Amino acid sequence: MKKVSYGFDAPVVIRNLFLGSLGLFLITGLAFFIKSQLWFWVAFIYLFVTALSFFIMAVWTLYSSLYLKPKLISKLIEDLELTGCEAVLDMGCGSGMFLIEAAKQLPRGKACGIDLWLNRDQFNNKIENTLSNAEVEGVQIELKTADMCRIPYRDKSFDCVISSLAIHNISDKVNRDEALSEMLRVLKPGGKFIIMDISPAKSYFEFLNEKDNVIVQTPNTIHKYCPPVHVIKGKVTHQKESGKLYEEAALC
Ligand SMILES: C[S@@+](CC[C@H](N)C(=O)[O-])C[C@H]1O[C@@H](n2cnc3c(N)ncnc32)[C@H](O)[C@@H]1O
Repeated sequence: MKKVSYGFDAPVVIRNLFLGSLGLFLITGLAFFIKSQLWFWVAFIYLFVTALSFFIMAVWTLYSSLYLKPKLISKLIEDLELTGCEAVLDMGCGSGMFLIEAAKQLPRGKACGIDLWLNRDQFNNKIENTLSNAEVEGVQIELKTADMCRIPYRDKSFDCVISSLAIHNISDKVNRDEALSEMLRVLKPGGKFIIMDISPAKSYFEFLNEKDNVIVQTPNTIHKYCPPVHVIKGKVTHQKESGKLYEEAALC
């Protein structure tokens, strides 16, 4: 029988933290048996504390993505107050935890996800796995392989855009801003967005806050997550163009 498999984030970082701590524990373990002078014991304590902090960070990061993320995501979906008929896009959906949770609330709507399926960013990251997770959870989703800096959907096609721990994977700010501009392009007036991400997220707030047609809340930081994550919620405001009101978000 098939099972859901959402994997965990940042496998390379977690592996390096475990290897780093293991190496340092081995060095301190061997060094413990060598009698030496005071400077040696200072170095020994320094290495031991570093090894321990690497180990704690690796376990905490793993715990965050396996146990804290599902809880945070179901709360964020609740906050979207979906009526069931919206079109929702997940930018960087990966194995689909956020997207599938949204799809469960969209019996008459549409849940779409885009991703580049990068294994360095999520363990066992492949489109087949995300489709299989949706099948096991009993929901319909539409997936496209695409860069979030060039979203392959028309202007104003979504009522909501969601994104979790994905935008920071774009290496430079210019391209991260491009992804945010793309998000605004595909949102209908009145459309909502929720972004959860690590440190660069504060710059997303600044970028979005400068836009005339965007209302964005001050980021809420969740410190119990490792690394801490920031949640940014907002909406695109209604505008008139050539006297005609744009298609409204979430018209069922
Ligand atoms: C840490 S994973 C998070 C996946 C999912 N949102 C979640 O929370 O489980 C980050 C995802 O962003 C995707 N990604 C990175 N850069 C991307 C880009 N430029 N366009 C689309 N997806 C991207 C990766 O392939 C990966 O699936």
